[in-house]
Amino acid sequence: MQQEENKEIKHSELATKESQEKVPCIAKIAKPHLLRCKLEPNKTYLYCTCGYSNTQPFCDKTCDTSKDIKGWKPIEFKVTVEQTFWSLCGCKRSKSEPFCDGSHNTLDW
Ligand code: FES
Repeated sequence: MQQEENKEIKHSELATKESQEKVPCIAKIAKPHLLRCKLEPNKTYLYCTCGYSNTQPFCDKTCDTSKDIKGWKPIEFKVTVEQTFWSLCGCKRSKSEPFCDGSHNTLDW
């Protein structure tokens, strides 16, 4: 657990020029694995990109209310076909967000 906390603390921060407020420049690893989700075709979902939502992998608007992660925005997305489940990214390192690309396999856990 201590190691997990340290990883979050190590995230570097940067000050945005506009606001001079500090925001994490690397998303928190919400889950070190993919998240299997049942998604309804043509329904709009908000995928959490910051990693701080309590409703992973979906945004719970923590990004709007927490000054510590101000500046992060969710990805709005839809699927157009129905399948048993979709593999959404839990580690926030996928290059195909919101979908898992296997990047969690390269995490140093
Ligand atoms: S809570 Fe993470 S992007 Fe909104």
